[in-house]
Amino acid sequence: MTYKPGKDSMMMAEYLEDNPIEAESCLDMGTGSGILAKKMREKAETVHAVDKDPEAVKYARERLDGINVYRSDLFSEVERKFDLIAFNPPYLPGEDESDHSDWAGGKNGIELTERFLNNADGYLNKGGRILFLVSDRADSDQLIQENRVLDTTHDWFEKLYLLEKN
Ligand SMILES: C[S@@+](CC[C@H](N)C(=O)[O-])C[C@H]1O[C@@H](n2cnc3c(N)ncnc32)[C@H](O)[C@@H]1O
Repeated sequence: MTYKPGKDSMMMAEYLEDNPIEAESCLDMGTGSGILAKKMREKAETVHAVDKDPEAVKYARERLDGINVYRSDLFSEVERKFDLIAFNPPYLPGEDESDHSDWAGGKNGIELTERFLNNADGYLNKGGRILFLVSDRADSDQLIQENRVLDTTHDWFEKLYLLEKN
């Protein structure tokens, strides 16, 4: 099922809209509906949008113009480097037992994010930036301490952090 944009998506979308991102090429990892890729395309010439979920890929492909949309399990099918990589990941504790999940980020909620972070540098141009999001419902304290907090938002359920990898 294609992820319906929520407060997490809005926080990242607003950051991309309100800040100079100074990137000619961007990768939207886990694009879902394509909301972040669309924002990136307003500022960057080249945007790739990937998702593990074939339904999301189909949904985004039908709605995004001028963006290269394809299926990829994290970086499995990504073949180039970018100036900016952003991932609003499945960030809650839970095992992804299906072929696609929009919320389950692993037992502690951060395993998929850590896999992303461990690989992302290899797809980043020199001087590029990596943006991602974590929830305080996950085991995210260390990630919050070790990276730069760009923005936060919260509701009764959780506090979300938009982070830039250091
Ligand atoms: C929280 S949703 C975010 C969707 C959209 N970027 C947004 O901000 O509204 C997480 C997305 O990551 C995708 N995803 C989950 N595991 C993935 C993986 N291993 N590789 C690529 N995408 C993945 C999900 O299918 C989902 O579309």
